[in-house]
Amino acid sequence: MGKMTAAPILVKCLKRMEYRGYDSVGLATISKKRILIKKGVGKVDDVNKLLHLEKLNGSVGIGHTRWATHGGVTYKNAHPHQDCKNEIAIVHNGIIENYNELKKSLITKGHKFKSETDSEVIAHMIGEFLNKNNNIKKAVINVANKLKGTYAFVAILNDGTLVGARYDEPLIVGVAKDGYYISSDVLGFIEYTDQAIFLDNNEFVIIDSESLTIYDANGSKVKKRITRIAWELADVDKGKFAHHTLKEINEQKHMISKAFSIRQSDFQEFVNVLASSKKILITGSGSSYHAALIAKQLLSKFCKLQCETILSSEFQYSSNVLTKDSVLLAISQSGETADLLQIVKTVKESKAKILSLVNVTTSSLARASNLFLGINCGPEIGVAATKSFTAQLSLIYRITNELSIPTMRININEIGKFVNNILNSSKNIVKIAEQIKHIGNIYVLGRGLHFPIALEAALKLKELVYVHAEGIPAGELKHGPLALMDENTIVIMLNPQDETYEDTLSNVYEIKARNAIIVGVSNVNNNKYDEWIKIPKAKDLVYPLLEVIPLQLLAYYTAVKRESNPDYPRNLAKSVTVK
Ligand code: G6P
Repeated sequence: MGKMTAAPILVKCLKRMEYRGYDSVGLATISKKRILIKKGVGKVDDVNKLLHLEKLNGSVGIGHTRWATHGGVTYKNAHPHQDCKNEIAIVHNGIIENYNELKKSLITKGHKFKSETDSEVIAHMIGEFLNKNNNIKKAVINVANKLKGTYAFVAILNDGTLVGARYDEPLIVGVAKDGYYISSDVLGFIEYTDQAIFLDNNEFVIIDSESLTIYDANGSKVKKRITRIAWELADVDKGKFAHHTLKEINEQKHMISKAFSIRQSDFQEFVNVLASSKKILITGSGSSYHAALIAKQLLSKFCKLQCETILSSEFQYSSNVLTKDSVLLAISQSGETADLLQIVKTVKESKAKILSLVNVTTSSLARASNLFLGINCGPEIGVAATKSFTAQLSLIYRITNELSIPTMRININEIGKFVNNILNSSKNIVKIAEQIKHIGNIYVLGRGLHFPIALEAALKLKELVYVHAEGIPAGELKHGPLALMDENTIVIMLNPQDETYEDTLSNVYEIKARNAIIVGVSNVNNNKYDEWIKIPKAKDLVYPLLEVIPLQLLAYYTAVKRESNPDYPRNLAKSVTVK
């Protein structure tokens, strides 16, 4: 909301927010006290080309890109949603768990629903309340009290008022000279202002032509600090690359040393807490969980720390008990993953310390942590994690360097050079991508530190190529997976010359005897490999970082050859803020 026409700004901002969801897109603006809406199924650019979203009039507006949870990907389910009288429009992130109950009660009061979404109830509830008592502040408090689940919603009223409220979903206000912005990520408005106010849970904001006021759940005004956001805008453009994913894979040559440039003073306290803890529970989701698996191996083996790992989504069913002398080490790119934030909430009550490695240092995770270290890799737009994963690993190496004996320490400058060489030899990977593009089953095998990379490589292939890919601990081959091997399978063997080399080589022979096609990832070639992805000879513990990069490239190039968009894989979202 501001002095400028809202729609073209909203379209630009939504393009930056597309990583959150990209099933459908919609805008609502206010012009001459009327709410105007345009929405459609597809990505921002496509829908905009068709419907000219940016032509909507008015200086107040809201917009949304959707990642479907309740209700299919249809025009009707696209946000914004309205109340019956078209006096209110809302956009919503999260899940309203009791929406069925709320919907039924609204229907008995005469409300007519247009969509299958949980979100639409919010528009009708605000409408219902305003009908009886024309006070938007009271309406928000009342609605918030009735909603169960998670939400960040923004509503516009046809009188020009803008309202935002949150519970367990992020919502941030951008304060610019010529207007205000409300977004679920600073990326939504970073082009226009670097001044941000982070709403806390249960807070809401009301902005009208005269003022911006933030309230707590009871309606008392709250004074909030303005935070200056440091990210550079240039980082969110593709530059000379065909896709964000390729740009981000290439950025890894710079990212890796960044972890080592964090000031020692910022780093020391974090490391001290880890070193003095009785038990460290390391958690994350997706790629961040794979980083957690590597952290566990390095910290327990080389630093003699008591570590366990758990997938964030599994924590609630586990019997993990953290006492006040334990640490939860949470790893996340976004710092907004709902499964992870759920653990943080539980662990907070146990008084154990929460330490995090996080990219978005203004995120809910960073703010809930006792201490955090920024992985510092800049905005990652491609939905599949690439540079954030290796940046997490770098920070884990730095921690390991600090807490292990000197002979185990790694030389980060050397790794930077290795990564550069790998990135410069992608021709071979493009050739392998051509060979595997029609294969339906890909297995990635590795032992020890390579197993988490097998999982990560398989995840990249699933996410980008939509192929059945499985990461398997190579030692388990004969306990089942060997039955799957035949001439139609591709097996990627993670096999550099370290302590796992000889045993993994035996697996190579077993697989070759069943005629599967083998891609060896190693510093040395072998005549059983049909294809060899060469990585440099390095210190044993560095191999995970070196072998994951060519496999990210392999997933990327195979996706491109199959004509899918690697930046926006189907059905996925980058920041999964719902459970
Ligand atoms: C989503 C993304 C993954 C990511 C995971 C964890 O599923 O698609 O790429 O690894 O979330 O995200 P986080 O931001 O917590 O690292």
